[in-house]
Amino acid sequence: MRSALVTGGAGFIGSHLVNALVEDGRRVTVLDDLSTGRWENLFGALNHGVRLTPGNVTDPHAVARALTAERPDTIYHLAAQIDVRHAVADPIHDAVVNLIGTLTLLQAAQRHGVRRFVLASTGGAIYGEADVLPTPESAEVRPASPYAASKAAAESYLDLYRTLFGLSTLSLRLSNVYGPRQNGAGEAGVVAMFCAAARAGHPVTVFGDGGQTRDFLYVDDVVRAFMAAGERPVTGCVNVATGRETTVLAVAQELGLRVRHAPERAGEVRRSCLDPSRAAAALGWAARVAFTDGLDRTLTSMAPATRRAPVASVAP
Ligand SMILES: NC(=O)c1ccc[n+]([C@@H]2O[C@H](COP(=O)([O-])OP(=O)(O)OC[C@H]3O[C@@H](n4cnc5c(N)ncnc54)[C@H](O)[C@@H]3O)[C@@H](O)[C@H]2O)c1
Repeated sequence: MRSALVTGGAGFIGSHLVNALVEDGRRVTVLDDLSTGRWENLFGALNHGVRLTPGNVTDPHAVARALTAERPDTIYHLAAQIDVRHAVADPIHDAVVNLIGTLTLLQAAQRHGVRRFVLASTGGAIYGEADVLPTPESAEVRPASPYAASKAAAESYLDLYRTLFGLSTLSLRLSNVYGPRQNGAGEAGVVAMFCAAARAGHPVTVFGDGGQTRDFLYVDDVVRAFMAAGERPVTGCVNVATGRETTVLAVAQELGLRVRHAPERAGEVRRSCLDPSRAAAALGWAARVAFTDGLDRTLTSMAPATRRAPVASVAP
């Protein structure tokens, strides 16, 4: 039976990926320090022999433990510091987790004979204010935050481990992912926050005019991209996105929310939308879930909440 390691597997995207791998008949090890993830996210998968390894991806001993028990052939590396504002406040911590953590895993992957290494990178942040929309992978990388810079550096190390050591590596540049189990405080929490507000009957605060655009991608589509990425010998980087722009205001309107406007925030990217052509050609992948369907599914998954009115913003 084939085996995979999912770092960050107790988090939002990681837990959906673990479910899909288990359904595909894989043995799965999860390495997670629970800084933002929760073991409860994996309840559905626990009966299927998922091995939970508490630990930090920057700790070589924890990483070695996660790799020795089941000897995974593939690493899906999703563990990360994902909070853009925290990255600005503490770029060293961001770099330690996102860069040193990736490097720790790459080194261990090489030592343990891992076949394939797939990184969750970010297309939403890495291109900054792009000249071309939808933005292709050939566009200049212009990190607008320490978070984007640490992801870009991690991508470079994946390329290096491929050329220096022959490890098969791929970086998936995800757009703004949303869906059930997302924590509203994350990189792309605007949909999660708006859905929580819709459930609670609260208004939302939008910074600026709400005309900022994002390429919103449903989590099930992202999971299919990771599954394809594990199987195909594609290297370099691939955008995983819909190629469609949606304004923040349109999300609020779709959910019937009352909107309060607050002054624009400095450093926020105005428009973000990624060209998914390479994913179609190289991975045979395309987004399938329409935004309105994805919103419905996300709303349905949320228990009626009693949170105070959330403040909505989109990350730079
Ligand atoms: N959500 C998005 O829209 C989006 C967009 C682009 C890229 N990504 C990337 O996808 C990945 C998953 O993001 P998510 O939205 O599911 O976030 P998440 O916070 O729900 O998941 C991250 C997981 O990593 C774990 N983790 C964090 N630091 C760790 C460490 N040092 N050691 C071990 N585990 C650690 C957390 O506990 C959590 O379970 C991240 O790499 C993120 O950068 C997400």
